[in-house]
Amino acid sequence: MNDHGSMRRTAHLTSDEAGLAEAAAILNRGGLVAFPTETVYGLGADATNAQAVAGIYAAKERPSFNPLISHLDSFEAAKVQGIFDDTARTLAEALWPGPLTLVVPTASTCTVSDLARAGLDSVGLRVPAHPLAHALLKATGRPVAAPSANRSGRVSPTDADHVLSDLDGRIDAVLDGGASDVGVESTIVACLGGPPRLLRPGGVPREAIEALIGMRLESGAAGEKNPLAPGMLASHYAPRAQVRLNASEIGPNEAALLYGATPPRGVEHAKAMLNLSESGDLREAAAHLFSYLRQLDASGAETIAVGPVPDTGLGEAINDRLRRAAAER
Ligand code: TXA
Ligand code: MG
Repeated sequence: MNDHGSMRRTAHLTSDEAGLAEAAAILNRGGLVAFPTETVYGLGADATNAQAVAGIYAAKERPSFNPLISHLDSFEAAKVQGIFDDTARTLAEALWPGPLTLVVPTASTCTVSDLARAGLDSVGLRVPAHPLAHALLKATGRPVAAPSANRSGRVSPTDADHVLSDLDGRIDAVLDGGASDVGVESTIVACLGGPPRLLRPGGVPREAIEALIGMRLESGAAGEKNPLAPGMLASHYAPRAQVRLNASEIGPNEAALLYGATPPRGVEHAKAMLNLSESGDLREAAAHLFSYLRQLDASGAETIAVGPVPDTGLGEAINDRLRRAAAER
């Protein structure tokens, strides 16, 4: 697929062994597969492969990068990705597999890509209960990032026909497992030290969670760090360095984040320099974005000067994120 999510053939896979094996093979080679969970159908990509994750945004035509939920086949596998405090462990043991997502600090062994985490030091993890989702995750043997399998701005799909009406020709396959029975997305609870917070109400009622942990959940909507919509925060990913956009010239104490084949003037004096995509491939650029910002930040430069990135296709989400990184704080 190109940056604009243009046409490819979408296979309609059945829920037998051959269908599962094909779905896992597509995911493992970086493709996009919609699959059933008990909440809604997810649009899956290998969470460890940033280029594959970029494909999710292209297919959905999402104008900004939000952190995605990574799906796993077991709590054991989730522990490789995130750090579980007592509350998170209690909830995982009681409610997984099931419609609960836990946002926890990333573990040192975390393999989920920066893009799937939208550059955050935390990771959203879920072990779904749907038998087909479980079998697929077991077969891939890796975390699978999956937002709902609809185009941005449309309603979440609860069967394979819904998926196809939005995404036919834009993804590699849909694994058909019939209708999802919960129909609303998972409940999201953040356990990041301090009191656990309800980031999104969903398939598990708040009361059930509060009863398990013996305390009230703080609301995600409170305070300035509103994680209900983490993508909307200006300081969502805030590098230490200042970020200067649309740079046509690079100063000697600046780090340069470039795009395309024509470098801005002064680039030879840059303190550090990385090119999001020399060939001008927006999907490749999206895949590199967060890790390159981090690397340039680590160079110690006071400013990261960013060359212009086209505002079409995935470029819209890239520019959205760059503007947030450059926002006053
Ligand atoms: O039911 C569901 O949860 C469905 C099915 C497919 O599993 N998935 C789903 O995924 O709704 P997604 O990726 O659309 O959920 C993204 C939301 C973000 O908007 C954010 O609220 C939260 O998950 N989230 C994920 N990682 C986070 C993080 N590190 N920090 C804060 N919020 C996070
Ligand atoms: Mg959705």
